[in-house]
Amino acid sequence: MHEVDPTSQSNYLQIATKHITFDWTVDFDNKVIAGTATHELIAKIDEVSEVIFDTSYLHIEGVKVDGDAVQDFGLGPKHEVMGSALRVPLPRTLCAGSSILVEITYRTTANGIALQFLEKEQTQGKTFPFLFSQCQPIHARDLAPVQDTPSVKLTYGASVRSVLPVLLSARRISPPSDGPAHDGKIIGKDEVVYWCLQPTPIPSYLLAIAAGNLQYQSFQVPDGKQWKSGVWSEPELMDKSFWEFSRDTARFLAAAENLAGPYRFGVYDLLVLPPSFPYGGMENPCLTFVTPTLLAGDRSLTDVVIHELTHSWFGNGVTHADASHFWLNEGWTTYVERVLLQIIHSPAHRGLSSVIGYKALLDALAFFEEKPKYQKLVINFNYGEDPDSAYSRVPYDKGANFLLHIERTLGGLAVFLPYVKDYIATYMGHSITTETWKNHLYAYFQKNGSEGQIEALNGINWDAWLHQSGLRLPVEIEYDLTLVNPANALADRWYESRHTTDISKLDFKSSDLDSLDANQRAVFLERLESCNESLPAGHLFHFDKLYSFSTTLSAEIRFRFYTLVLKSPAAMYFVQGAANWVIGADDTGVIKGRMKFCRPVFRAMFKVNPDLTISTFKQARTQFHPIAQSLVAQDLGLDLTGLRGSG
Ligand code: BES
Ligand code: ZN
Repeated sequence: MHEVDPTSQSNYLQIATKHITFDWTVDFDNKVIAGTATHELIAKIDEVSEVIFDTSYLHIEGVKVDGDAVQDFGLGPKHEVMGSALRVPLPRTLCAGSSILVEITYRTTANGIALQFLEKEQTQGKTFPFLFSQCQPIHARDLAPVQDTPSVKLTYGASVRSVLPVLLSARRISPPSDGPAHDGKIIGKDEVVYWCLQPTPIPSYLLAIAAGNLQYQSFQVPDGKQWKSGVWSEPELMDKSFWEFSRDTARFLAAAENLAGPYRFGVYDLLVLPPSFPYGGMENPCLTFVTPTLLAGDRSLTDVVIHELTHSWFGNGVTHADASHFWLNEGWTTYVERVLLQIIHSPAHRGLSSVIGYKALLDALAFFEEKPKYQKLVINFNYGEDPDSAYSRVPYDKGANFLLHIERTLGGLAVFLPYVKDYIATYMGHSITTETWKNHLYAYFQKNGSEGQIEALNGINWDAWLHQSGLRLPVEIEYDLTLVNPANALADRWYESRHTTDISKLDFKSSDLDSLDANQRAVFLERLESCNESLPAGHLFHFDKLYSFSTTLSAEIRFRFYTLVLKSPAAMYFVQGAANWVIGADDTGVIKGRMKFCRPVFRAMFKVNPDLTISTFKQARTQFHPIAQSLVAQDLGLDLTGLRGSG
């Protein structure tokens, strides 16, 4: 049974793209990509007489079918979320299995939100402009006419003409990655044609491009591996980037292979983006995009790399069929990410990550109190509903906890991991729904398990986990608290001291934190934030003086500090500092474009000083990614209509 993807207008159930050839020119002066997209499509049923693509803010110049120009193609009305359907009538009716070539000549426009063209001032080097895309969930249609649904998987090849080095979510054919940058030509001046190929079928949301003054450094890969791995960044960040990721990336990927099977994409590179990149990481195939806030200088944030590389199997390999089943991507990835933490580090690290995720889940469930639909694991999106507005930790942490609950119900990791391997092997390369996943789970244990295990599965409250909303998990889950306890103990000591009026009597010292790693420090701050009462202002000043949270360069710690103090009696003393930090008007010098940081900080500031918050946001708005601009505006109740695209 097929349900149609509610976020796409394309007729992919009738005819679907198999391969796209892109021929693009990146025009930095006009901030557009112009060229052609040639789709090779295969009819899925008989009597197909048209192809419908998703587009959004694209200027369509012409269409050819099997090499002949078609005049009567039509661009439908613009829907705010869905974009405009591009209908291409076919000169002949196709029967199931037959193929056709559709070439579309087009250019992107400034209104699309998939592409962010940065001014040179917004980069690290401040000498060259920069471009990057973010297509997930439904922005690939701003980059190219596509059937923008994860139910369609395609291979692609591209030739891209550009005066700056170009990277795609694909393998570089020429010039080679490890050769001279920009083929030895003058960066920023000479045009070079970059050829890339993605031979493994991927959904459209994994199309990606970046261009800028980018250099490459390769990592050492364990013996016997067929894949390569390395990091791309602006030259100014190369040493830091290489140091942060070179020790762990290939070793993490090898650990994931042991768990999930061979890595299929040939190359696993990281790309460190400029500060406006709105996510922590994005699992673009062959080339994970990461926020520069991961460059903590202590390798403490490489969990994000574990997460993104795990998507190579969960998401990029086995893909959710549509936005309603997004948890299959993120819940599975988060679950396996934590299993890898246990394997690579220890069970206590799995527990620590789970506790951090659990707090984020409770916050997300509370955030959606008025929108209980988004508290569900499986969200039935309506036609035209925006998946960006539903984005939260719910699919990640409700999903990961659900899988952990199933793992424990069935008898633990030793029983569960063979099933995970089978799940991946069965659906690799396919796009599936929650129902398909569940049916396979049952089928696997019917074949390989015991009656007791089937009974255990029958005992699970499937409806509660998958389809019910609510502020808590259907079942409370226990975690290994070995690493959490010392952080909580310190937080509790502070909390117990809250009635001490004489600060000089407080028994705390800067070295309290020495034995806590970055994740434990996060737990420490979150524990205090979760207490019923806030610490008095005097305590918080003293606390900051001892621990220097308001000046730490770790964004993970600093944003938690601000969320804590902005809820306290000291809020008005810290709100200006939070404002300066989030827009980079402090010694960090860069905006905190990652939405995990900027959204909660703007929201917390708003409760303390709405005027300052709005003027701060307005002042720096165009520095942020269009997706972040739109969601922060939504959070602050601002209307950006008419302003978008002007940045
Ligand atoms: N695929 C997501 C990012 C994403 C999801 C972008 C939906 C757009 C729409 C990525 O894998 C992710 O989960 N990133 C997290 C990393 C974290 C969980 C380690 C992030 O950005 O915070
Ligand atoms: Zn993810």
